[in-house]
Amino acid sequence: MNTSDLISKTIVFVKQKLKNSEGGHDWFHIERVYNNANAISKNEVCDLYVVKLGALLHDIADSKFNNGDETIGPKIAREFLVSENVSEDIINHVVNIIENISYKGGNFEKKFHSIELDIVQDADRLDAIGAIGIARAFNYGGFKNRPLYNPSISPNLRMSKEEYKNSEAPTLNHFYEKLLLLKDKMNTVTGKQIALQRHLYMETFLSQFYAEWEGES
Ligand code: ADP
Ligand code: NI
Repeated sequence: MNTSDLISKTIVFVKQKLKNSEGGHDWFHIERVYNNANAISKNEVCDLYVVKLGALLHDIADSKFNNGDETIGPKIAREFLVSENVSEDIINHVVNIIENISYKGGNFEKKFHSIELDIVQDADRLDAIGAIGIARAFNYGGFKNRPLYNPSISPNLRMSKEEYKNSEAPTLNHFYEKLLLLKDKMNTVTGKQIALQRHLYMETFLSQFYAEWEGES
């Protein structure tokens, strides 16, 4: 099978797998990440085939919705690629991307390095910030039944992952826990440029949010 046929087939497979997923993690998230990854790749020397497969398969099974099991996604992706007779090297690279893409709290040490991973990771992070990132955060917060904001729980309060999970942490806290930190974690020059725009947009959103909360604006 040629590469563009396999990409089309992967798109069909991913759409089918994600058809019951929640709004922030649905096929459209994958499509945006795929588009971001293609755009970033234009300015990088990389294997576009691996970038595309990595972007399409990166959230094929999210551990958050699979009892914390982080092995399911890579396993499903590998099985799919093996069934399509993709070469061993490409399969291993794509699986490494899926296993290493996640932002893990304060631990930014990646076990695997490649420009293709850098690109897909940037593409995924871009979708967590800016207007879409704001929408996804509140969508996720709603899914978890979290309050939007609580002035008595400081948004700047740093909690451990466990404390955060068990708390009534409002969605606004997630901006300080993760979203506002992402612009400094970008790998590629293109990713950094887009992230900065989206970061400034979130800062404007937050100032307006607090002003409206106080009845000032
Ligand atoms: P990704 O799809 O980029 O790998 P995640 O799986 O970590 O990201 O999260 C999916 C979306 O849900 C992201 O937009 C993220 O910001 C948001 N999200 C994750 N955890 C929280 C949270 N505790 N509160 C609000 N939004 C969250
Ligand atoms: Ni994602």
